[in-house]
Amino acid sequence: MIKSPVWIAATALFAVVVGTVAVLGLTKRGESPRVVSSGAVSIGGPFTLTDHNGQTFTDADFAGKLTLVYFGYTLCPDVCPTTLQTVAQALDLLGEDANGVQGLFISVDPERDTPEVLADYVPHFHEQITGLTGTAEQIAEVAKMYRVYFAKSETDDTSEYLMDHSSILYLMGPDGGYLTHIAHGATPEAIAETVRGQL
Ligand code: NI
Repeated sequence: MIKSPVWIAATALFAVVVGTVAVLGLTKRGESPRVVSSGAVSIGGPFTLTDHNGQTFTDADFAGKLTLVYFGYTLCPDVCPTTLQTVAQALDLLGEDANGVQGLFISVDPERDTPEVLADYVPHFHEQITGLTGTAEQIAEVAKMYRVYFAKSETDDTSEYLMDHSSILYLMGPDGGYLTHIAHGATPEAIAETVRGQL
């Protein structure tokens, strides 16, 4: 993740959108079990991707579990591995309660993050984190549903490009609906506490 002006602007806009949805979500939850929605804005929804074992993976595959959803890419030099490490520590802190929780790492760099690449990366953090990739169209669609910004960072060396991307950890409910998001930089303890409050 690179903090370019575009990224900062996208993140600021995102914070406003999520804040609005979160407030509206409190009154809307009873009416809209699948996706918390203000009418114009919703977070999450049905998707079909490919997991790090090369199997088709849909939102229905984790029905009944809470999911911690994060978008990133395996070649991210800093923020993504730090976040995955933090989520892994939170899952460990949850102990047996972690059985009701699934981590999802959705690649915003499907060009390089094949299932094989994800398989060599994601499970090293935690066995309960699944790496997901897909076609460029599938990734664009799921990122849009989660209001995640991503773009190739412009460099001269196109083989070594970085990705700009939002760094937001979502907690989604057992029905796939948005519950809350966890700010960048949250400790494993804070994540575990937020998850436990929703179990
Ligand atoms: Ni990153």
